[in-house]
Amino acid sequence: MKKIIQPLVVGNWKMNPLTETMAVRLARDIKKGCARIQDVAVVIAPPSLYLGTVHKILDGSHQVQLGVQNVHWDKLGAHTGEISLPMLKNFAVSYVIIGHSERRELGETDVMVNTKIQAALKAGITPIVCVGEKMRDHSADYLGFVERQIREACKGVPRAKLSRIVIAYEPIWAIGTGNTATPADAHEMKLFIQRILTDLYGRAVAMKVKVLYGGSVNAKNAEILLSEGAIDGFLVGGASINADEFIQIIKIAAA
Ligand code: PGA
Repeated sequence: MKKIIQPLVVGNWKMNPLTETMAVRLARDIKKGCARIQDVAVVIAPPSLYLGTVHKILDGSHQVQLGVQNVHWDKLGAHTGEISLPMLKNFAVSYVIIGHSERRELGETDVMVNTKIQAALKAGITPIVCVGEKMRDHSADYLGFVERQIREACKGVPRAKLSRIVIAYEPIWAIGTGNTATPADAHEMKLFIQRILTDLYGRAVAMKVKVLYGGSVNAKNAEILLSEGAIDGFLVGGASINADEFIQIIKIAAA
């Protein structure tokens, strides 16, 4: 039976690998491993320095699309160290990760996240918007925290464009720590995010938004997170720079 929402698996390579030769090998292995897998969308987000090379490798692959880990909202100009959305078009980039906690940690605010989302939507590039709390507390303040992040992210986003946003719930305590959210945690958060979006935009469009989970996802925990967490896919960090493990996760999402 076909799934109503096609799962999405995104590999966030972060600041890896060390050499272009290694990036080439990783991209090739992932492309090859995905060649026969269907019913799942796959995105890899290498460091921007490798975009041109990885773009050439992926060329012609419908299965693996290109993403980036950050972008500036302006088209061009005096923004040292930044890259723009029109530049990404040169490399057929179709996804951009926005508001990752590692960037928020460096000072990216909700307002900047929102500006980037609006610019990405305008440019026709799908924003993968990261939200997630630093820690869990007994009084459930983490829910309020995530709610604020989502409401701020959606400011000025028209209903007609909402379904082009992907939300990645990434609790900071789970990123790179080996401490994964339980499937119940992930499920609770997906329902909670859908409720906020329903409140803002109505149920019909809210239900079209993909909600991914990220934070120490690997080939061992992917299956239970998907089946019991009822999430729409993954944002994978560490395990995405190991082609074999990443492909296993993709196969689980496709199954
Ligand atoms: P991780 O990172 O899979 O290494 O925990 C996920 C992320 O930060 O996107």
